[in-house]
Amino acid sequence: MKLVFLGAPGAGKGTQAKRLVEKYGIPQISTGDLLRAAVAEGTPLGKEAKAYMDRGELVPDSVVLGMVKERLSQDDCKKGFILDGFPRNVAQAEALDKMLSEMNMPLDLALNLDVPFDDLMKRLTGRRTCKSCGQMYNIYYSPSKVEGKCDKCGGELFQRDDDKEETIRKRLEVYRAQTEPLIDYYSRKGILKSVSGTGSIDEIFNSICTILEKKAN
Ligand code: AP5
Repeated sequence: MKLVFLGAPGAGKGTQAKRLVEKYGIPQISTGDLLRAAVAEGTPLGKEAKAYMDRGELVPDSVVLGMVKERLSQDDCKKGFILDGFPRNVAQAEALDKMLSEMNMPLDLALNLDVPFDDLMKRLTGRRTCKSCGQMYNIYYSPSKVEGKCDKCGGELFQRDDDKEETIRKRLEVYRAQTEPLIDYYSRKGILKSVSGTGSIDEIFNSICTILEKKAN
């Protein structure tokens, strides 16, 4: 299954993508995670990206497209992939179509996680992530048993630099202006499905699996 995850910041794309990786054994390609790794390593690309990320703006397409192309050409993507946080605007979507057509791997599905805007701020300000294993928590909805420590591995939990209220507002603005139009883009291509992203993580996951299984048959 070759899948694009759409949805506003905080809609739960990363949470659901990780569950799909476990169930279907296909890789999650998160441009946000790839960029954060480059920032942490202090590479030239990471240094360039950080300023944009801290402002809640999109990193230039030229930076992101090269990164995605390189990742998609790795062997583990041949059986499918989940693109999480990419594409983010129409230019990226068109570039992705071109890339995948050259690789002879057209997209099967664009899955939009639909969450009311009012819920997103709380999800994002409350998000905490484990430094060691990447497990995600939320201080309001799904806190760890011991504050600041991961239930799975005991690692330290951190808050993302861009999960500050002011930066979140900017990210949501950028989403509305640049990313939301992709719902129409994929709808016109006939590969869009929308799922409600409210309710329990399990319920949403089950709805997603039902769609994927219907698509596969
Ligand atoms: P990125 O890392 O992609 O962030 P995002 O799109 O803003 O998405 P998030 O990771 O914030 O949210 P999510 O939908 O994955 O939600 P999650 O599952 O974590 O991008 C960051 C930055 O990198 C961008 O601003 C940009 O600068 C740059 N960038 C990235 N890709 C780019 C690109 N292609 N082009 C240009 N720039 C790019 O869940 C959020 C919280 O909610 C968690 O705490 C979780 O536990 C909780 N939660 C999840 N589901 C539920 C539920 N059902 N009920 C209650 N809580 C829930």
